[in-house]
Amino acid sequence: MSVTMVLGAQWGDEAKGKIVDLLSQDADIVARFNGGDNAGHTVINDYGTFKLRLTPNGFSNPNSMCIIGPGVVINLATLINELNMIRQAGIDLSSRLWISPRCHVVMPYHPMVEAIYEQAKGSSSTGTTGRGMGPVYADKVSYNGIRLVDMQEAGLFREKLQVQLQVKNALFKAFEQAPLDLQTVLDEKLNQFAQVKSMVQEPFGLVQKALANDSNILLEGAQGALLDNTWGTYPYCTASTTISGGVTDGLGIAPRWIKRVIGVTKAYTTRVGRGPMPTELEDATGQVLQNEGKDFGPVTGRPRRCGWFDADLVSFTAKLSGYTEIALTKLDVLDSLPKIKIGVGYHPCGGKGTSAHYWDGDAHWLEGYEPEYIEMEGWLQSTKDVRLFSQLPARAQAYVRRIEQLVETPVTIVSVGPERNATIIRNNQ
Ligand code: GDP
Ligand code: IMO
Ligand code: MG
Repeated sequence: MSVTMVLGAQWGDEAKGKIVDLLSQDADIVARFNGGDNAGHTVINDYGTFKLRLTPNGFSNPNSMCIIGPGVVINLATLINELNMIRQAGIDLSSRLWISPRCHVVMPYHPMVEAIYEQAKGSSSTGTTGRGMGPVYADKVSYNGIRLVDMQEAGLFREKLQVQLQVKNALFKAFEQAPLDLQTVLDEKLNQFAQVKSMVQEPFGLVQKALANDSNILLEGAQGALLDNTWGTYPYCTASTTISGGVTDGLGIAPRWIKRVIGVTKAYTTRVGRGPMPTELEDATGQVLQNEGKDFGPVTGRPRRCGWFDADLVSFTAKLSGYTEIALTKLDVLDSLPKIKIGVGYHPCGGKGTSAHYWDGDAHWLEGYEPEYIEMEGWLQSTKDVRLFSQLPARAQAYVRRIEQLVETPVTIVSVGPERNATIIRNNQ
C-alpha cells in the first residue's frame, strides 16, 4: 500500500505542481481533493509548460488515472480550457479522468458575491483570487450548492438554480448590479456540462480498489496549510481544508491508509493576498527573492510578498499534517545572498526573546508580534546545476540541515530549478 500526499506547508505556491509531476511518473492514480481553480500549479515537463488549476498533475503519465475528488469545486469553463490545452499538447484525458458527481460547481454568481464582500470590506479585504471560492463553499455548507450530479437532470438543475438566483439577484439589486438571467445561466452551464459529462463518475470505488491492490496513489494538495479555513490565518485564508485531514472528506480515503505526507516548502516564504506574514521583507532583499524566484502568481499575476523562511510556521504545519518528510524548493533563489536569516519564533513587537508561537493566537494577534531570527552565512554560488546533495556548497547543505533540525522533519527532496530534473533526491546524504 502506498498513499503519498503532497501538501503546501506555507501559504501556497510552494511548487507542489513540480513535486507532484516528478512523483507522478510512478503513480497509478493522481488525485486532487480540495480547492478549486484558485490553485495554479506550474509544471515543466517533456510536453511543455503548464499552469494547471483543476486538472491533477498525473496527466503526463499515460499509465496514471487522474481523479478530481468530491472536495474540489469545479469551474467548468476552466476545466474545459485545461482539457483542451492538454489535448493540444497531444494528451487526451477523456478516458483517464474521473470527476466526482459530488463536486460542487462554481456558478457565475459566486465570484460576483465575492466581489461584493471584498469591496464592502475595503482595506480589510482578504485579497482573494476572485474565483468565487468563499461563496461556493459557503453555499455547500449551507445546503445551497449545485453539484455536478444536479446538472445530470435539466429539470432539477433549473429548480435549484431558480431558488439561488431569486436570493442572489436580490443581493445584486441591493448593490446596484445587473441580475443574472435564469435561461442564460442554465444554457451556458448545461452546454459546459455536456462537454465533460462522460468523465463525471464517482471515483470512490476505483480509489478503494486501488488501496486494496497496493497501488501507488498520489494526492495533490492545493493551497497551503496556513491558508486552511480552520488553522490558517483566518479570515486571510481560503475556503477549503488544506491539511492532510482534508483527504478523508475530499476523496474518501481514511487516515490509516496514508503512508507518506510530503510537506512542500520554499527555502524562503511567500504569500499572495493580505494577512500577517511575520518574516516579510519589504526591502532590497525582498526584491531579490521576488526577482530571483519570479514570484508572481500563475492565476492572478499578482506579485507575491517575499520574506525569510519561518521555521516556527513550518514546524507548526508539520505537526498539523504529520509530514513524514519535506520537499524544500527554490533553494537556488537564495544563491546570491551573503547572509540568510531563519525565523524561529516570535516576541511582542519591540520586545525580546522567543515567547510565542503561531498557534498561540489568531491572525490579528500575530500582527502584534515580530520574529526572532537566527542568521547563517550564504553560499554565494549557483546551485542550479547541482543534482547530488553532497555537491551542494557546504553552506547550502548546512542551511538544509538547519531547516530539518528546526522543523524536526527530514528534507528528502531539494529543488534547485523549475524543471523536473532540477531536483536533488536525498538518499541518506
Ligand atoms: P504550486 O502552486 O505550489 O504548484 O506552485 P506555483 O506553480 O504556483 O509556483 C511555483 C513557481 O516556482 C513556479 O513558477 C515554478 O515553475 C517555480 N519553481 C518550482 N520549483 C522551483 C525551483 O526549485 N527553483 C526555482 N527558481 N523555481 C521553481
Ligand atoms: P496554490 O494551489 C497562493 C490565497 C489568495 C488569498 C486567499 C483567499 O497555487 O498554492 P481564495 O481565492 O482562495 O478565496 O483566496 O488565499 N490563495 C492562494 N495563494 N496559492 C494558492 O494556490 C492560493 N489559493 C488561494 O491569494 O490570499
Ligand atoms: Mg500556485
